Amino acid sequence: MTKDAYTLAREAATALRAAAGIDNFDVALVMGSGWVPAADAIGAAVREIPFTDLPGFQAPAVAGHGGRIRVVRTAAGRHALVFLGRTHLYEGLGVDTVVHGVRTAAAAGVRTLVLTNAAGGLRPETQSVGDPVLISDHINLTGANPITGTTFLDLTEVYSGRLRALAREVDPSLAEGVYVAFRGPTYETPAEIRMLRALGGDMVGMSTVLEAIAAREAGLDVLGLSLVTNPGAGLSGEPLNHEEVLEVGRTTAARMGVLLAKVVDRL
Ligand code: 6GU
Repeated sequence: MTKDAYTLAREAATALRAAAGIDNFDVALVMGSGWVPAADAIGAAVREIPFTDLPGFQAPAVAGHGGRIRVVRTAAGRHALVFLGRTHLYEGLGVDTVVHGVRTAAAAGVRTLVLTNAAGGLRPETQSVGDPVLISDHINLTGANPITGTTFLDLTEVYSGRLRALAREVDPSLAEGVYVAFRGPTYETPAEIRMLRALGGDMVGMSTVLEAIAAREAGLDVLGLSLVTNPGAGLSGEPLNHEEVLEVGRTTAARMGVLLAKVVDRL
């Protein structure tokens, strides 16, 4: 029998504690593309551990997606695990690999998870490129689910109302929206973007929802933040590309960094 995903995550957590020289972590943050330049503001790097040093992790294939865990001590003395990069479903490594970081963080004692991503905006009437948006809920159109078997899991409040209120205290201008995830790696067609608007989506991307589900299964409180890097296909007339996603991340790094640092120190 192959080793199950939860056992592998416990082994990775043991290796992570040893490599970090720290036994308990207060929070984990997953930095999506566009968010990596903001990571420096969260706190002082104690150590960096390449994904490939830990059991079950894969090096991300895509530019801007990093591939290491930074152990951070924040200004208020909290210990954070900052994931610089993540595995996406479109890489074809399977859903357990996509959520392995979340399960490892949970096994390492983390109780609060901050998931960030770059997203296409579905509401250009009210959203501007470069705006952070709090994720209030999600629509999982990836066709995948990290939970297999017969465990039913309530998803009434995937993204914690308490953590969203805390983020709005830090930045009262934060908008909230529903994040829709497709598997990718194609961006959507204009017809799909019109469909997502009709379905009640506000942002669209290729990550976050599976990690959020795995986090809820593990009992973590989840905060989700999207950085709107471009309008969805057909809404602006411009073609989409990954380079513009990274560029918006670089130009907004200072604002996103301050937001994350303040949120983490108020947890
Ligand atoms: Cl428009 N779609 C998806 N799926 N992901 C994105 C995006 C759009 N913009 C940034 N990431």
